[in-house]
Amino acid sequence: MAGYRNKGNPGFMGWIDDRFPATAMWEDHLSKYYAPKNFNFWYFFGSLALLVLVNQILTGIWLTMSYNPSAEGAFASVEYIMRDVEYGWILRYLHSTGASAFFVVVYLHMFRGMMYGSYRNPRELVWIFGMTIYLALMAEAFMGYLLPWGQMSYWGAQVIVSLFGAIPAIGPDLQQWIRGDYLISGITLNRFFALHVIALPIVLLALVVLHIIALHEVGSNNPDGVEIKEKKDENGVPLDGIPFHPYYTVKDIVGVVVFLFVFCTVVFFFPEGGGYFLEKPNFEPANALKTPAHIAPVWYFTPFYAMLRAVTYPLFGVDAKFWGVVVMGAAIAILFVLPWLDRSPVKSIRYKGLLSKLWLLIFAVSFVILGVLGAIPATEGRTTVAQICTVLYFAFFILMPFYTRMERTKPVPERVTG
Ligand code: HEM
Repeated sequence: MAGYRNKGNPGFMGWIDDRFPATAMWEDHLSKYYAPKNFNFWYFFGSLALLVLVNQILTGIWLTMSYNPSAEGAFASVEYIMRDVEYGWILRYLHSTGASAFFVVVYLHMFRGMMYGSYRNPRELVWIFGMTIYLALMAEAFMGYLLPWGQMSYWGAQVIVSLFGAIPAIGPDLQQWIRGDYLISGITLNRFFALHVIALPIVLLALVVLHIIALHEVGSNNPDGVEIKEKKDENGVPLDGIPFHPYYTVKDIVGVVVFLFVFCTVVFFFPEGGGYFLEKPNFEPANALKTPAHIAPVWYFTPFYAMLRAVTYPLFGVDAKFWGVVVMGAAIAILFVLPWLDRSPVKSIRYKGLLSKLWLLIFAVSFVILGVLGAIPATEGRTTVAQICTVLYFAFFILMPFYTRMERTKPVPERVTG
């Protein structure tokens, strides 16, 4: 165990190490954590997710200092932050743009895992913790979106909370329990505020710690999907490993700088993101008596919203809406079992066969099309396209045990390439 090393050294750090495993932790997680030497572009997004998480927490703390979590004061307090609070506008834009950036980064991070088989044995728990982070992040974003108390905050929450009402028998009671009222009200706003600023951030931080501990226990995967721990030198150091610090800490700074250029461009020049990061109806205060013409969730939820709307048939005497909720839930749940669906003898897409490559492409394209469809009003034609894409999305997972076993794979090199 790390805490039993580095004892009895002289000096200040020796004094600390005798009482707290500071040096041991630094070595285990940074200076002697050996990461594969062939990390590429796709490996930037883990550290970027950490950066965005820190941004959200810091800007969130300062926003909370001037925000008023009541139905009467919320909208006006956000306007006050934007106009009167010193640097309030930049705090808010960093936080609202940060929410979208979080999902961009996390979607790319997840896609990397899917490409290189990072969810496979022995990293199943890294993946499961990651998926739980994704769930918590969705809840966090959903609750945060109610706080400005604009029209879309109100009606978006109304639509999503009403989904729970579609569950047979317990639905209506559950819906009322979540809202704490007969409709979305100041009571709902208060509890969403508590969950958004305290409960879910704690859960998220704890999950991120678990995610990284699990990763460091087994070691990082890499674009070749080769286990570097299988080839070690006489000191037990993987031949294809390099110390995370300084090599990847420095490399990650490059990613951070490029990311900040893009992020700041949005914050300073396009904070509304063309109506996708901050939606137009949200510049109007919430009004329970006036439904916006077109209700759409923020872009990162739209693929699942499109799946919900794609289900138009009642089944076993139960409403189509309920089955839509089931499909939406299943679309997320199926990602949890991904490690057990992939039966390929190889991990990385580089060495998988044509079928795996084709299905991963179909999956990604369907997800993007669903995302576009979920953001625009439904028509008959669009619903048909959404239905096809939903079927393809699920087919990618359900057929995976078959196509990953059937196809011819390429030989995996003994050591990492490049
Ligand atoms: C707050 C959100 C998240 C943070 C801060 C985070 C952080 C990290 C970090 C720092 C790494 C190591 C560096 C890297 O490989 O890029 C990592 C690896 C990984 N993460 Fe995440 N992560 C988050 C969300 C997720 C999600 C949602 C998933 C998937 C469902 C996921 C799956 C993985 C996997 C499979 C690895 C290992 C990759 C490999 O070794 O090839 N993470 N994560």
